[in-house]
Amino acid sequence: MKRIGVFDSGLGGLTVVKAILSEMPKENIVFFADAANMPYGDKTPEEIIAFSKHNASLLNEYDLKAMVIACNTSDSIAGDLLKQSYDIPVSGVIKAAAKEAVRQTGNRKIAVLATKATVSSGSYQKQIAELDKEIEVTAIPCPDLVPLIEEGRFATKDELLDQSIETYLEKVRRSGADTVILGCTHYDLIYDLVQEKMPDVRIVSSSRTLVQELKEILTGSHRLSRRKGKDIYLSSSCSERLDQIAAKIIPDIRLQKK
Ligand code: DGL
Repeated sequence: MKRIGVFDSGLGGLTVVKAILSEMPKENIVFFADAANMPYGDKTPEEIIAFSKHNASLLNEYDLKAMVIACNTSDSIAGDLLKQSYDIPVSGVIKAAAKEAVRQTGNRKIAVLATKATVSSGSYQKQIAELDKEIEVTAIPCPDLVPLIEEGRFATKDELLDQSIETYLEKVRRSGADTVILGCTHYDLIYDLVQEKMPDVRIVSSSRTLVQELKEILTGSHRLSRRKGKDIYLSSSCSERLDQIAAKIIPDIRLQKK
């Protein structure tokens, strides 16, 4: 059975899996979270490249028909390298999100919330400029968010997470952007909170925008699945607590140690 391989530094990548399965329920997934090494956002480019290469080659041990880099940080720094290294389609989250934000913005001001590494890489700024040079991009590093989300604080009202989001959104307000990219797949889990705090802003989630592109690739190459089997969920670090948090994204999930 051919699978779509999906990886992230942590549980954020499950938001991409959720989006894929909701659009293409018959697809079969093998997912890997590098939970032992997360967050990637604070790591050096060399470390991020090494982790990303490892994750891709681990997934490649399965019978893959496509691979998804469900991590903006990996896609920013190692995306081109991985796309050249495999003879199956390898899709990253950044291009699709940048394209959608350019389509959505009315005042040509886009804010990007992302990890430190993604912001420093300039990947979103570059992708958006390739589509429209006149668009003003404000990229805001949000180093507190991934650790707080990975602790499961997104599931109920949480003061600390709330304050942290508010600090970053204040920068979005000051930028005057009418469109915000959630440029980290973990941030899809705070989509509603962001929308509640900024009801007039258009939100583009990097977890959701890739799916259409992937569907087109699979449809175009006649590789859409017709038979649903059991998905495989792997992680470099496992615990009951991690399973409980993961189950808030994909019900009944159990991560296996890899
Ligand atoms: N989900 C990853 C991303 O999209 C989080 C990176 C991290 O581990 O800091 O960038």
